[in-house]
Amino acid sequence: MTKKEKLEVLYEETCDCMNCKLCTTRKNYVFGEGSPDAKIMFIGEAPGREEDEIGKPFVGRSGKLLTGIIEKGMQIKRDDVYISNIVKCRPTINLEGKTDRAPEKDEINNCCFILEKQIEIIKPKVIVTLGNPATKFILNTKQGITKIHGIFGEYKNIKVMPIYHPSYILRNGGEKSPLKKDVWEDIKKVLTYLKEI
Ligand code: URA
Repeated sequence: MTKKEKLEVLYEETCDCMNCKLCTTRKNYVFGEGSPDAKIMFIGEAPGREEDEIGKPFVGRSGKLLTGIIEKGMQIKRDDVYISNIVKCRPTINLEGKTDRAPEKDEINNCCFILEKQIEIIKPKVIVTLGNPATKFILNTKQGITKIHGIFGEYKNIKVMPIYHPSYILRNGGEKSPLKKDVWEDIKKVLTYLKEI
């Protein structure tokens, strides 16, 4: 089976998932998207409102910022990387589904096998974790993103670069945020690493 076929099988096996309570409020299951042969995989936290509506990761405001980092900054087409989240359904604070919240431990525990399989199938050269939940999960660390962004870690022999989550940048000045410079410095390390291997 090709990587594409393996991802399709995984999607079919998991898209009707009812392993946790998020299935009761989701509009769409957000599996992930991009190239099955991607060298770089970006991992976020969980879908937000727009992602839940459309069924694709990072399509809202923070998605626009992420796409800018990939396409304008890294000069790579968004379609050539793979983008996913640790949790595939949108967590909200109540059943009306108006306000997002971070995924809870049991939701991450129930869902993470899907991300783990995605990584196993795609075998990227570098994983870029976006923000605290993704970084803590992938690197199995308690250290916060302000301390460890920009420092390569490792997940099953794959290099991992933790960077700030785009929504954190949006909450801290947006396009003019000084954090953008940090993100760019961290991303440059990824590009250098990919050139060297
Ligand atoms: N934030 C995330 O972490 N993931 C998305 O897909 C969208 C926003």
